[in-house]
Amino acid sequence: MNGNIIIKNASQLVTCSGFRAKRGKEMSDIGIIENGALIIEDGLIKSVGESSQVLNNLDKTGFDTIDARGKAILPGFVDPHTHFVFGGYREEEFSWRLGGDNYMDIMNRGGGILSTVMATREASKECLVRKGLGRLDSMVSFGVTTVEGKSGYGLDHDTEIKQLEVMKEIDEIHPIDVVKTFLGPHAVPKEYQGKEEVFIDYMVNDVMPEIVERDLAEFSDIFCEENVFSIEQSRRFLNSAKNMGFKLKFHADEIVQLGGAELAAELGAVSADHLLQASDKGIRDIAEAGVIPTLLPGTAFSLKEPYARARFMIDNNCAVALATDINPGSCFTESIPLVIALAALYMDMTTEEIITALTINSAAAIDRADKIGSIDVGKDGDIIILEFPSYKYLPYHIGVSTVERVIKKGKIIFDKRKGEISNCLLT
Ligand code: NIG
Ligand code: FE
Repeated sequence: MNGNIIIKNASQLVTCSGFRAKRGKEMSDIGIIENGALIIEDGLIKSVGESSQVLNNLDKTGFDTIDARGKAILPGFVDPHTHFVFGGYREEEFSWRLGGDNYMDIMNRGGGILSTVMATREASKECLVRKGLGRLDSMVSFGVTTVEGKSGYGLDHDTEIKQLEVMKEIDEIHPIDVVKTFLGPHAVPKEYQGKEEVFIDYMVNDVMPEIVERDLAEFSDIFCEENVFSIEQSRRFLNSAKNMGFKLKFHADEIVQLGGAELAAELGAVSADHLLQASDKGIRDIAEAGVIPTLLPGTAFSLKEPYARARFMIDNNCAVALATDINPGSCFTESIPLVIALAALYMDMTTEEIITALTINSAAAIDRADKIGSIDVGKDGDIIILEFPSYKYLPYHIGVSTVERVIKKGKIIFDKRKGEISNCLLT
């Protein structure tokens, strides 16, 4: 059930207006209306502007009204890269890394992603649904209204399908929208060590057709990395995915520079993600090809790796998006305030660029810029209300969420003042 809401007297209404990704200098334009108001009818934004204009001659019957005096309002955040459905945890591995162990070494000796694969294969669907719902509740509290979620902790037919079915079920139950990505080649499972080509054939021939037939994922992705999948293997897998009708995402140039950004541009991927080590040429190629660089500062922070070069990307006319990458290994956090803090303090992004990267550009990274990611007439009524009068408090209140209320398709799904996160499940 979608809602009818009027929000009026907002000290700042940050529209992020637009129906496509914003590149380079455009990322600074977030469209501020002082003393703003908006109307959401049947879940969709019907009117936006200065309060006196929007409220003029309005018949308020059937609408709830929120007075947002002293508060800034923005479009709901979109988290376009997550692995939020998984079994088990890897707290031991985190301790090993604190002691000096390296993320890829742990993976290469059979831990890391492969340990989550074992736990996810064993987990029941019910358990994965319950844990996934809890993680989405937490994301709502940070202002997230749409999330992308990847498979990739199955590496076999049944578990990859199970993960996607779990996300489908969560999407139906939870007010947050979930956009699904098939990440079958996320690691090489033990039974295919040294037979990467055969494993890719298995994913393409035995898993993908069912996903297409049952419409279980919209995007496909692969982890291209030294000792995981090569550029050639990634090209072959992604081309097959494209031919089967998937849109493409790509874990590229994360730890070692392999030319992932260049390949994402060559294939016309919707997004290239991580890019900590992307080359100058790769960055220029994705700018030219209109591929969205989705940057994951929480992962660089957690792995103690250098941050992706957001400044260089924006200065070279890229449309940068930001995401959490929540997963049980390289980055166990769904914290948007952490992402904002890292982007502001370590990636040389301005507050305006960060807001664009978490709204209209992250919507574009999941091919939804026409429906969400901005406060424009006709888009979904996904809105966040801050506790403060200006968007500038977002990076300033370091590492703390300033989101007071979250509205999804015209319904309030989170209210910090009530101290309840789980209330979003009741709507
Ligand atoms: O995006 N880099 C590969 N995949 C995930 C990590 C998965 C894990 O460690 O479980 C990422 O960082
Ligand atoms: Fe990832």
